[in-house]
Amino acid sequence: MSEKQVIEVVVASDAQQVAAKSADLLIALAAQSAHAPNVALSGGSTPRAMYYHLAEQPSEVLGNLRRVNYFVGDERSVHNYHEDSNVRLAVENLFRPAGIPWRCLQAPDGGAKDLAAEAARYGNLMKQLLPTGANGQPQFDIVYLGMGGDGHTASLFPGTRALSEKQATFVANEVPQLGTWRLTLTYPALAAASHLVISLAGASKADVLAEIFTGAAQGKYPIEHLSAPRITWIIDEAAAASLNPEQIANYQKKGNA
Ligand code: 6PG
Repeated sequence: MSEKQVIEVVVASDAQQVAAKSADLLIALAAQSAHAPNVALSGGSTPRAMYYHLAEQPSEVLGNLRRVNYFVGDERSVHNYHEDSNVRLAVENLFRPAGIPWRCLQAPDGGAKDLAAEAARYGNLMKQLLPTGANGQPQFDIVYLGMGGDGHTASLFPGTRALSEKQATFVANEVPQLGTWRLTLTYPALAAASHLVISLAGASKADVLAEIFTGAAQGKYPIEHLSAPRITWIIDEAAAASLNPEQIANYQKKGNA
């Protein structure tokens, strides 16, 4: 756990509100940052609603969103136009409808023949383009993350090699339980970020979230090993259903001890 870590938990009414509150953090950063913000986008299905919320913003906000440097925090081992691609998800649901030029997005090629080399290239690009964080890793202003039902985040899945990566920024990661490879930011890269925003919704996440927030999980889930100066969980009531307000408050205090 990083020093002076601030943990915030925001409970939203539903998935739509999770998306809106997640988007609002980017809108505020894009409006207030003195430098062009560096933001890593998440994958999966949750970001889609956030992208819709961003794309329907007024022109002034859209103008601010065009000054952001976008990256993806992880990608599937598919080409960028494949239906499973996180890059395609962002291009089709955010960049195109919001009129954000594609040049604002630096993306890995999930369809590369040599995924390890492509991951290294993309990680080095992040190092070239971003300021350097305290641990020597490229420093994002915000990294958006989700959580899978197995407690994975980005493409840091339980039992996979990337969990033990201590040096590289972005790696190819074999995920035997899915029978595939992924490309992902590593724990050191995530720890360098100024702010991690974990957005999740739905009853399917409730049991794992309760194990994590009450400490019952005892570190068995990859997402529990995230570290950064500021971590914001944005969850909906369905995902929080197995927790009471005191348990949520205690979890926040844990990070702010
Ligand atoms: C991915 C994501 C992954 C995602 C979780 C949650 O590439 O799939 O980066 O970490 O955030 O699996 O996915 P949902 O948002 O679909 O629940």
